[in-house]
Amino acid sequence: MLESDAMSNSSGHIFQVVRQAARIEEIVGEHIALRPAGREFVGLCPFHEDRRPSMYVSPQKQIFYCFVCAAGGDVFKFVENYHKMSKGEALRFLAQRYGIALPEYRSASPQAHSQRDRIYEANVWAAQYFQKNLLGSIGETARQYLTARGVNAATIERFKIGCAETQWTALAAAAAKKGISQETLLAVGLVKSRSDGSPYDVFRNRLMFPIIDLSDRVIAFGGRILPTAASAQGTESPAGGDQDGPKYLNSPETALFSKRETLYALNLARQPLIRKQMAVVVEGYMDVVGCHQAGVENVVATLGTAMTEQHIHMLRRFCNRVALVFDSDDAGRRAADRAIELLLRYPVDVRIAHVPDGKDPCDFCMAHGGEAFEKILAQARDSLEYAWEKMYAMFQASDSLAGKQRASEALMRLVAPAILNSTVDPIRRGLLQKNIADLVGISPDEVHARIRKLSAAAPGTTNNAGATGAVGAVAPPPEPTTVDVGVQRAGLWIIGSLVSDFTLYALFRERISIDLFPEPAMASLLARLLEYLEELTDSSTGNLAEFMALLDDPELVRLVMQAQTEAERGGNFKQKLEDSLNRLEELSQLRSTAATDIDSPGGATPDEAARLKTVVDTRMLAAKTNKLRRPLGPRPQGG
Ligand code: GTP
Ligand code: MN
Repeated sequence: MLESDAMSNSSGHIFQVVRQAARIEEIVGEHIALRPAGREFVGLCPFHEDRRPSMYVSPQKQIFYCFVCAAGGDVFKFVENYHKMSKGEALRFLAQRYGIALPEYRSASPQAHSQRDRIYEANVWAAQYFQKNLLGSIGETARQYLTARGVNAATIERFKIGCAETQWTALAAAAAKKGISQETLLAVGLVKSRSDGSPYDVFRNRLMFPIIDLSDRVIAFGGRILPTAASAQGTESPAGGDQDGPKYLNSPETALFSKRETLYALNLARQPLIRKQMAVVVEGYMDVVGCHQAGVENVVATLGTAMTEQHIHMLRRFCNRVALVFDSDDAGRRAADRAIELLLRYPVDVRIAHVPDGKDPCDFCMAHGGEAFEKILAQARDSLEYAWEKMYAMFQASDSLAGKQRASEALMRLVAPAILNSTVDPIRRGLLQKNIADLVGISPDEVHARIRKLSAAAPGTTNNAGATGAVGAVAPPPEPTTVDVGVQRAGLWIIGSLVSDFTLYALFRERISIDLFPEPAMASLLARLLEYLEELTDSSTGNLAEFMALLDDPELVRLVMQAQTEAERGGNFKQKLEDSLNRLEELSQLRSTAATDIDSPGGATPDEAARLKTVVDTRMLAAKTNKLRRPLGPRPQGG
């Protein structure tokens, strides 16, 4: 699905009108200084701390693009990003600037109202309902609790925090009055039905945190149990397992919401983390709230799950430094270990920070303020070093030869992805290799050889989590470096040709398939492009600027720019498209033949096969334990 909001679907026309009237070079030029450079203009990019002008504006293509941070898109996108406006607000801004009258939106026909829209509307309504609760007499306990935790009114407003009442059917009844159907409420997981079919509220007596996506839509809720009225001053929740259920309850996974693909408060943290070029990931809702209130705004949280690949991909759109902040308990340390293992596979600079004195980030920020928290972040340790020290300790501790061997194996396994990943800083890789060599007493080259061997025995690194989201659906496997350059070029040409001449799509529609693209980022881009192309009623109205603006992911923006530039070289888009398709089809055929070979008995020696199986089994076990790591029930309260 496209990430565009309901508004742009129902009123695409007005966007076209405004886009045609607006001159991107004028609009950008009103915000930053531009100077001409050939057919384009350049200026200092306002979306990162630019030293040399790296933002280009093309009057001809009506796009802006930064070669450093990959911010880019059409004129709407620029206004949205610069002023932190929603798409609707950007439309109003530009329409006003060019003297275009906007039609009324309310008149959209009810038929055009999809189930999806209804779901979003129900969530928006519920968020407001919970907010109203909090301000009224129902919200007494919740307000006291928030005050006790030090959360102020501005923060409550900013995070749209609300509360659910103790009654079983309060929300269900209010929604019915509003004409929101039970079916819709069930679909978003706000109610469940009893055996007689009547609805009851899922969230009761809870502090409610709306979970908002990057398009500013409420996609789910997190609800924290409130202390019973009698103990409202206490900051601790009732012990887990009481009749009110777990400490935290999240909306169920729906078409709109998947925990694995969602980070709490990314909507609020996006700009700050682009500005600071660092994302801080904490464990809890309250931690995010506390940090933001203390002025540290590049902070997000996972939703009670471990970090996933999808989370990393989301963060990598905006920055390449991540600081993981964990509570100082054992659970926090284990979480750190797991996260490191995952993050090491990506070209992300990961640091690990622990909050001292057994506090969580929220309470720490409340007690010591944002500056003190920033200090903790500044002292965060490089994750490789962290992993290194752990393994080192393990190595030192084992007095038997076998023990040492196991430790060094474990260490190599852990760092293998980083060492083999060409996007990880080579100095860092070299150092790592040398450290291991010194420790284990072999040469760095030997280390490298062993690591290569280890990873060759573990080919199953592709991890398609079976997600449905536009980006998640093609979650890139960890080692993009293994992709053959010919494939890369062919992929770029296909995409580049299509966005240079949108009418070509009709000619090749039957042959273009995502399966042909082994390189995940490109497959992801193609998926987005196909959605865009399929939605066009007339392919000649296809527009690169518009398509770029739909891509929220700088990586994809970068890729589409690269594709367009590559394809433009020498022209003849149709020929390029055709040649590239031929090439990819050929390769895909080869791949499927190769795959059957491996399955056949002669494909691998028995030894290799056995080792492979162990690796696969271990992986599956790891995947399972990961899933089971935090059961939905109450979490044991660490002392
Ligand atoms: P406070 O305890 O009020 O400080 O909130 P917190 O957000 O810091 O929570 P905590 O540190 O206990 O847990 C961290 C995160 O794990 C929470 O924000 C939730 O996302 C998740 N979590 C904690 N307990 C549960 C639970 O019982 N069920 C589920 N599904 N998630 C939980
Ligand atoms: Mn906490």
